[in-house]
Amino acid sequence: MSVHFIGAGPGAPDLITLRGRDLIASCPVCLHAGSLIPPAMLGWCPAGARIVDTAPLDLDAIIAEMAAADAAGQDVARLHSGDLSIWSACGEQMRRLDALRIPYTVTPGVPAFAAAAASLKRELTLPGVAQSLVLTRTSGRASAMPERETLAAFAASGATLAIHLSIHVIEQASAELAPFYGADCPVAVVFRASWPDERILRGTLASISTEVRAAGLERTALILVGPALASDDFGESALYSAGYDRRFRPGGGV
Ligand SMILES: C[S@@+](CC[C@H](N)C(=O)[O-])C[C@H]1O[C@@H](n2cnc3c(N)ncnc32)[C@H](O)[C@@H]1O
Repeated sequence: MSVHFIGAGPGAPDLITLRGRDLIASCPVCLHAGSLIPPAMLGWCPAGARIVDTAPLDLDAIIAEMAAADAAGQDVARLHSGDLSIWSACGEQMRRLDALRIPYTVTPGVPAFAAAAASLKRELTLPGVAQSLVLTRTSGRASAMPERETLAAFAASGATLAIHLSIHVIEQASAELAPFYGADCPVAVVFRASWPDERILRGTLASISTEVRAAGLERTALILVGPALASDDFGESALYSAGYDRRFRPGGGV
């Protein structure tokens, strides 16, 4: 028996991995993280599967479900949105399973920031513009930010920022970032990337919060900030330049 933690991707059912889909189809128990998991995925569970929405459960109750499946010798598909490595609350579940000696596997998923970049049709790391991407959030009720992980600290680098869980504080976030990037810095907000009701708003640090409020967007949105969001003024990667000598194209351009 194993608990299979599966990154379910950003929303579109066909953005889960083949491995994730096959695991769902093979597990007689499915625990899923509520509204961020597309209902179509639950249709892949085998007939008669026990399907539990864990949104209203606390950690003890979730682990009790896993322990009961373990006692019955039944595999569990544990679905979380996006990828499991960021803001999935998997760490605490895996620690409990370690203590209970219940085996588990981890299958990655497409994270929301990647789905948002795809919707925008933008590369977030452009040569000479930005070569780093910071995945971050602001303080919430469930998790306070460590003292040194401020938006200002990340903004000082000029990297592209992907700010999660923060659409409700976009005014404060924009104000905090403007001194570093400039008020005219491009911003994109992608609401429910890859879902049928996806929406995209584009603006600047000066304008975006007004646009977000006017659109009434309140949840499940990613705020992307940085010059890479709009720049067409960037160099081409040396990797594909005709004169670049590399292992699989020796003597290129000679
Ligand atoms: C609890 S975090 C989960 C992140 C997820 N584990 C991932 O890999 O992207 C939830 C936040 O991720 C972002 N998010 C998740 N799915 C999204 C989507 N489809 N479109 C835009 N943002 C999304 C939002 O900022 C949301 O508040």
